[in-house]
Amino acid sequence: MRSELDVLLDKVDEQTLRADIRSQVERLRAKRTFGLVFESHLPERVRLPEHPLRVGVKVAYRDNTDSPAFEVLSITGEVVTLRKVRNPDGSSLSATQAAEVTDETSQVAALVVIADFGEPVFPGLRHLGSVERGGNKPAHIVIKGENHHVLEALQFTHAGKIDCVYIDPPYNSGARDWKYDNNYVDDTDAYRHSKWLAFMERRLLLAKRLLNPADSVLIVTIDEKEYLRLGLLLEQVFPGCKVQMVSTLINPASVARAGAFGRSDEYIFIVSIGTGGPQRVRLNREWVSAKGRTHTGNIRWDLLRRSGESAARKDSPGCFYAIYVDPTGPTIAKVGEALAEGQAVPDSLKGCVAVLPIRKDGTEGRWQWTPSTLRRRLEQGRVRITGSKTKGFVVSILKDGEFRKITRGEFQVTGTNPDGSLIVDDVETATVLAIPGSQWRTSSHDATQYGSRMLTDTLIPGRKFPFPKSLYAVEDTIRFFVNDKPDAVVLDFFGGSGTTVHAVARLNRQDGGRRQAILVTNNEVSAAEADALRAKGLRRGAPQWEALGIFEYITRPRVTAAITGRTPGGDPIKGDYKFTDVFPMAEGFEENVEFFELTYLDAEVVELDIAFSGVAPLLWLRAGGRGPIIGESLDAAGRRKPYAWTEAYGVLFNPDRWRTFVGNRRESASTAFVVTDSQTTFAGIASELPGTLDVVRLYENYLTTFAINWGYL
Ligand SMILES: C[S@@+](CC[C@H](N)C(=O)[O-])C[C@H]1O[C@@H](n2cnc3c(N)ncnc32)[C@H](O)[C@@H]1O
Repeated sequence: MRSELDVLLDKVDEQTLRADIRSQVERLRAKRTFGLVFESHLPERVRLPEHPLRVGVKVAYRDNTDSPAFEVLSITGEVVTLRKVRNPDGSSLSATQAAEVTDETSQVAALVVIADFGEPVFPGLRHLGSVERGGNKPAHIVIKGENHHVLEALQFTHAGKIDCVYIDPPYNSGARDWKYDNNYVDDTDAYRHSKWLAFMERRLLLAKRLLNPADSVLIVTIDEKEYLRLGLLLEQVFPGCKVQMVSTLINPASVARAGAFGRSDEYIFIVSIGTGGPQRVRLNREWVSAKGRTHTGNIRWDLLRRSGESAARKDSPGCFYAIYVDPTGPTIAKVGEALAEGQAVPDSLKGCVAVLPIRKDGTEGRWQWTPSTLRRRLEQGRVRITGSKTKGFVVSILKDGEFRKITRGEFQVTGTNPDGSLIVDDVETATVLAIPGSQWRTSSHDATQYGSRMLTDTLIPGRKFPFPKSLYAVEDTIRFFVNDKPDAVVLDFFGGSGTTVHAVARLNRQDGGRRQAILVTNNEVSAAEADALRAKGLRRGAPQWEALGIFEYITRPRVTAAITGRTPGGDPIKGDYKFTDVFPMAEGFEENVEFFELTYLDAEVVELDIAFSGVAPLLWLRAGGRGPIIGESLDAAGRRKPYAWTEAYGVLFNPDRWRTFVGNRRESASTAFVVTDSQTTFAGIASELPGTLDVVRLYENYLTTFAINWGYL
């Protein structure tokens, strides 16, 4: 139904202005009126630094993060004539603004091609290098790029396949620790919370589609600046999922806060998807209170007589019966039947003492188990008799949870007592198998000691990175969720110094797993470094600038050092790993890593076969990231290949050759890509391939398959 507003809108003559107002009105209407309400800022504009300037493309000034968008009208040598088409915030020009626009000129080098939201962009991956020490294990993938676009590209390769997302996003501290649409967000920015929320929401929605809906987990670390808003956002993005928050001590020394308590902990949000949730893992004593009842390292015997609520005879008359104890053992000679209502004294049994569930205050209580259950469990050795005729006998039992610890092999049975009860070895070991509480206070999670210092003093000497996580904190956090998944895929799209790859490598070493980490990070320099570089006359994209970016200067060298056991200078890394798995850091890990950069292919200029090389790593990734990449669609003589297979996957370039393609399939391959625009041809070929294969259609114009940046999810 048309509202008054719609009618008024129709009176706006200028078409673009009318459309702009209408779209804003629609957005306002779509707003939530309760829950987490925030401004859904325009998505960040995509900069395409490698795209050549052509007449007709949209550009912005390279060094001006607040640049309006221009259309290129002509290019003569290095001089470009431009016309302004959009304001810096992405809005269309008003009629007045449009009337005032005059064409301007600039230098090619000062401009960068851009795509506004909704204009398709074509991602590719460029291979940057490898570390190969893991034989045929799947490679860890480390991608340099804007995570929003990488997450979009991963929709093709990993939809529903990720077991665990672990992220440590910018905390929005107000200290220029992150950028929105290429601009640092500081505490003078009135929209800093809504910008952060809009930024996170877009990425979380994409991450959600990557997570296995049946059984997976999303883990987000955060501090006091945004934890309240993040909690609400997670509830909204993942309705129906369990969201839990852990408080974790990361700085035992605590950072002083003016007029407030020192800050010593941060928070970990855990979103359980499907059946996902923490598993019991081996933990050292620090994790659990030494006085705690549950994790003492011993098996726990409980009293058979019920205490607390519903503990009176009348609450369960069937559980009021005599246990006849032969005092010479003592052993249980017989388990009687429930006494009739009103009967207080049981029949006697020669030579035995009849024990009833009488409470300390002399009133009639009840046993926890019925006579038949007690008899059955007596046979299993789960009932113990202690005490004496003079002091009285006490009946103790092993309840189901404790008994399971024995059947699972956590405790060894070394014999039986004269009363038939099991003798269980107390594992007074340094570790216990447990799910801990939600307050983590373990020294290994100290971010200074096992994050910053490990990085700067040991792995990549002299290189500083702000706030890396403790390696052991990431390892421990992830372990709860992938302990029983030796092939888990773990994604971190705020990768920073690469701690997550390192942590997954450690987990694999501990149990021979083949887990794969996918890590994404940008190549930003810090705000201070950017100022210093600008002062030297350098701009983004210059080799000296890019070399100091996080990916180039920190992530790639750190991951390489961790896996090879050598520092960037080639020296063996000093020291030993600690805690769960102690060994020399110089040993490195038997793991593979492939480094990539996200590229944006230009659909107008890229030849089809070159386009294939650009997207080839995405196909390899979809097939599990194992073995070689089928990187070319042309053979050595420059002819289109009919098809290609590796151990992991195959690509059929020429559908006419499907018979030999099908015939030459490798048994170990998991995926087949068929290049055809025809749905019928595709369906025909797919039906010839075994149902166990993931058969995927690619358009002949490869880029079409991968287009991103279309619009809201
Ligand atoms: C808090 S740090 C993560 C630190 C990491 N957990 C570690 O242990 O080193 C967040 C990282 O996300 C990266 N980042 C922020 N925004 C990004 C974006 N839009 N795309 C890709 N990476 C981004 C930053 O460069 C920064 O390195």
